[in-house]
Amino acid sequence: MKKMNIGLIGAGFMAKAHSIAYAGMPMFFWPAPALPVKKLIADVDDPMAKEGMEKFGFESYTTDWHDIISNPDIDVVDICTPNNVHAEIAIAAANAGKHILCEKPLSLTPQEAKEMYLAAKTNSVTTMVAFNYRKTPAVQLAKKYIDEGAIGDILDFRGTYLQDWSAAPESPLSWRFQKAICGTGALGDIGTHVVDMIRFLVGDFASVNARTATYIKDRPVQEGSADSLGNARGSQGTPRKKVDVDDQCIFMIECKNGAFGSIEATRNAWGRNNYITFEIHGSRGSLYFNYEHRDELQVCFADDPEDRRGFRTVYTGPNHPYGVNLWPIPALGIGYTETKIVETYDFFKAIADGTEAAPNFRDGYAVELISDAIIRSAQTRTWNPVDDIEE
Ligand code: NAI
Repeated sequence: MKKMNIGLIGAGFMAKAHSIAYAGMPMFFWPAPALPVKKLIADVDDPMAKEGMEKFGFESYTTDWHDIISNPDIDVVDICTPNNVHAEIAIAAANAGKHILCEKPLSLTPQEAKEMYLAAKTNSVTTMVAFNYRKTPAVQLAKKYIDEGAIGDILDFRGTYLQDWSAAPESPLSWRFQKAICGTGALGDIGTHVVDMIRFLVGDFASVNARTATYIKDRPVQEGSADSLGNARGSQGTPRKKVDVDDQCIFMIECKNGAFGSIEATRNAWGRNNYITFEIHGSRGSLYFNYEHRDELQVCFADDPEDRRGFRTVYTGPNHPYGVNLWPIPALGIGYTETKIVETYDFFKAIADGTEAAPNFRDGYAVELISDAIIRSAQTRTWNPVDDIEE
């Protein structure tokens, strides 16, 4: 079986998720499109890089990501760094002819995203942007129902991504709260996942009307380059620094196909942990999904007999997208890991088949254009059109 050598950059939270997925993908999807080989891992922080090699099972490590790009044995570059270096690494990887899996959000700006997209296109490399939540089987099932016309024409929708890991003012200022490193706050970090899901399920966005807020205006500075995701607390007297990105955003959306709806994303919703939801209403039915119950898709079909019409729950399993490969019994329990395993499979399959992966850099670029329109709309308090992709 063909092997593909991975060079992974950024040895933090996502490196763990991606490394598990490389190990697990062939166990679920056999025969695998290719066998991932965890070759080289890079992190600017030497102990993180070394520990990453040991615990994630890489053959060697480096503190300079350029070593991955210049290594002729590396087939796939996997970008798991904070957002500010995605573009530089991805463009170098594309120019070196490597296939690229890049964490979301794709970039800091639409301009960077465009350059990444064009570099990949020019060099004919396969790309994927890691909006893994759309890989949840229940989300794929929603897409299947929509494509089959099971809920008719989509009228309207609402989506959320609510968290509380950084709702405490003592939660530290990591890279996720610094515009120069993250670009945007709750919008890019979590809101973009829902934007991607709604684009996938409903269609392209035409215009947005947004409001953003920063409730916690400064935070204690966090040591180290990896984000503790709220799990570290500075000692009394730790210096505080300004937060210069949103920690909450709400926006209305008008889609090109006429459907309209809203999305809200916040990291200040006490009691909500990974509350990714959507509800989509069509002319012949409705769909509801909540990632905290990710084996379930709630459906209501208008054609059901009147005396039994209402939401019912479909538990995803072997009869649903990716189900045959995942677990043999419905509701055994899909986890975050499975979304990353499906993502890895789709990416490797696209490389093996020479087809486009989805979502790819073009999709990541589309989401950056939407984020940009949201930020501009929040500043002007007006409806803002979403710019078109420049090919
Ligand atoms: P993290 O803070 O846990 O780890 C990032 C690592 O990158 C750190 O160890 C840091 O030292 C290293 N790093 C920083 N600059 C570097 C450079 N120039 N070269 C090499 N290493 C460098 O971050 P996390 O949570 O893993 O996030 C990484 C990316 O993944 C971000 O773009 C984030 O938005 C995305 N993400 C996606 C998620 C998803 O569900 N798809 C969930 C969490 C993060």
